[in-house]
Amino acid sequence: TVLGPILGIETSCDETAAAVLDGTGHVLSNIISSQQAVHERFGGVVPELASRAHIQNVDHVTRRALDNARLGWQDLTAIAVTQGPGLAGALLVGLSYAKSIAYALGIPLVGVSHLEGHIASAWIDRPAFPRNCVVLIASGGHTHLFHADESGGFRLMGRTIDDAAGEAFDKGAQMLGLGYPGGPLIDAAARKGRPTVVRFPRSRVRTGALDFSFSGLKTALLYHLQTLTPNAIAEQQADLAACYQEAIVDVLVRQAFAAVERAGVSALAVVGGVSANSRLRAKLTERATQEGIELGLPALSYCTDNAAMIAAAGQRALLLGQVTALDGEALPDCVL
Ligand code: KG4
Ligand code: ZN
Repeated sequence: TVLGPILGIETSCDETAAAVLDGTGHVLSNIISSQQAVHERFGGVVPELASRAHIQNVDHVTRRALDNARLGWQDLTAIAVTQGPGLAGALLVGLSYAKSIAYALGIPLVGVSHLEGHIASAWIDRPAFPRNCVVLIASGGHTHLFHADESGGFRLMGRTIDDAAGEAFDKGAQMLGLGYPGGPLIDAAARKGRPTVVRFPRSRVRTGALDFSFSGLKTALLYHLQTLTPNAIAEQQADLAACYQEAIVDVLVRQAFAAVERAGVSALAVVGGVSANSRLRAKLTERATQEGIELGLPALSYCTDNAAMIAAAGQRALLLGQVTALDGEALPDCVL
């Protein structure tokens, strides 16, 4: 199959994103319109406001992606769009928009899973990265370990039994008075702090299990903060952020490398919003070097939600002969 330029559209949560890849998977443009300003004062994503902002943004974000790629509508050979999981209303905006373009241009539509998008981000700019590898997805909604194989299949090895890693970052940041979204704010605050002042728990679900649990850590932070005055919390914010982050990072690194050993592979990809974390990237890199494991970390712009990863996953799906009918539905609760 010879692939041509593909447009990717992502509207599953609070970023309206569009990207264009050429037929070889090279990213020609990657536009992201963040709704942070819309949701900030609510301390989290408000679904109805997200849908409305997607409606306002999706067309001009897509046109900008085409402009930046120096392409017109007629150059497109396929449209990839996030079909799920995500917020129902938000997904519908991108999906309806993508369907109408595919219909008008008479080109195939391919609905992809947001998670497969994150997974595909590991191969953007790194096409030679082994297909047989362990993938850790750590985002706001997911913390999953998969064994990916050559044929494009995934086997679930472990997952969180409560909060996702990104959720742990976001809730911790809120408790520490850092604001929203918590991941990047804890990352920044922690750079000025010492990670060894307080030892927060590194929870294990069961001995040997590859699952994750972050709710105990969250409670430990809450209890610790209850012993401190507001002034003390403000004073120790950087240290507390560093210690809390360290606990999350240690668990992610420990479980990811345990999965690599269990799967008997020599490559580890770490993707999703949390893979943008500087401490996580440093600790993964150190451990991978020590153990001779090939590490695939996406560039920062492909860690958090974006449409380049959706187009990349769509391209893989098209190569496998998959297309989505124009009456395909949004799948808010789908898994992979
Ligand atoms: O993949 P993503 O953009 O959206 C979802 O699919 O959920 O991930 C968003 C999550 C948020 O919880 C955010 O706080 C976290 O990723 N995140 C980070 C960092 N940047 C984003 N967490 C830790 N450190 C970061 N630098
Ligand atoms: Zn995501």
